[in-house]
Amino acid sequence: MTDYIALAKNNLMKTYSTADICIDHGEGVRLYDTEGKSYLDMVAGIAVNALGYGNEKIKKRVEEVMSDGFFHVSNLYYNKWAPLAAERLNRLSGGSEVFYANSGAEANEAALKIARKYGSASGRTKVISFSHSFHGRTYGAITLTGQDKYHKGFAPMVPDIVYAEYNNLSSVSSLIDEKTCAIIMEPVQGEGGIIPAEEEFIKGLRRLADEYDALLIFDCVQCGLGRTGRNFAFKHYDVRPDIMTLAKAIGCGVPFSATVAFSKAKGVLSPGDHASTFGGNALSAALSLILFDSLEDGLASEVEKKGEYMKARLKEICDKHPDKCVEVRGLGLMLGLDLKISPSAVIAECRKRGLLVCSAGYTVLRFVPPLVIGYEDIDEAVRIVDEALSAL
Ligand SMILES: Cc1ncc(COP(=O)(O)O)c(C=O)c1O
Repeated sequence: MTDYIALAKNNLMKTYSTADICIDHGEGVRLYDTEGKSYLDMVAGIAVNALGYGNEKIKKRVEEVMSDGFFHVSNLYYNKWAPLAAERLNRLSGGSEVFYANSGAEANEAALKIARKYGSASGRTKVISFSHSFHGRTYGAITLTGQDKYHKGFAPMVPDIVYAEYNNLSSVSSLIDEKTCAIIMEPVQGEGGIIPAEEEFIKGLRRLADEYDALLIFDCVQCGLGRTGRNFAFKHYDVRPDIMTLAKAIGCGVPFSATVAFSKAKGVLSPGDHASTFGGNALSAALSLILFDSLEDGLASEVEKKGEYMKARLKEICDKHPDKCVEVRGLGLMLGLDLKISPSAVIAECRKRGLLVCSAGYTVLRFVPPLVIGYEDIDEAVRIVDEALSAL
């Protein structure tokens, strides 16, 4: 049998700490490796596979798109899917216009360019981001990311990006000025450790952005599209952004992302200002419509109920292991168990027992399962985490 793991180790650049398992196939909320071992998946390709594995609608849609003979024609021409997806996304979110790309980082690059262009007429270039944030790995996006570990060795960063403290409005007030063109934040911080914004904080950001005519950008790459129990995480707070970025779940497993400009940010970019060869290709746009259909059918309210159940169950094991656990945080099915011990040891113990989980930040065990997960699957996951904690 082909040794895929050896092939990967000999041929891929070593930028990831990949576990020594090779996934062969998936069904529902389970993945199976090439050795035949089954795993209950609480990672979902890092908050991507919202509709689980082996989804019949996705299979049919791929065939439907290919029956026209292409996945891609570039943005020199329209295709039949991208306009439908943009109209639906604007309708669902309240946005005005959409730019498509392929990843979260690129969606944030587009947002940053809109912000800088918006500010350019009045010489405003400063962008405020936050401690513990994560916005991706391209240069603009890592500079927006307020964590030193991602900058180390890659200086110089993109200029005029500063960091305030998350959930601390006065730290934003002390940085914002007449040179500020944007504030970018995740309504629920993901990679930084599953940290939801406090209501007063996010509302205060909206007020400050309005006061200084800065654009408020919500990075909903991880917390958007039903994940937190609302179609978009900002809907928990009754605030609206000027720009929202989306990726991960939007393409049902294929690379796809969107930068949605709301009214104030509409029309800032003109022809020639920005582009992406693959952005809005027929396959990604057609697949995104399946997710939008699910959202219109009430996926997010199901997620809210399941998320509350799972949070309560995780709190039980958090209380049961006070020597190893600090607290449970998060919204919907974007949950984190903050630990006093290394998440990597717990992840390894869980994997032995057939459960995939991942970390966020330095101490948090992250749960971002497919949104179609069942209550029994949640019980199984919680039981395995309990066993893993007991074993350590
Ligand atoms: C909030 C947020 N923004 C941006 C990104 C970057 O997305 P990508 O890896 O698709 O570039 C991520 C990825 O984890 C993310 O969680």
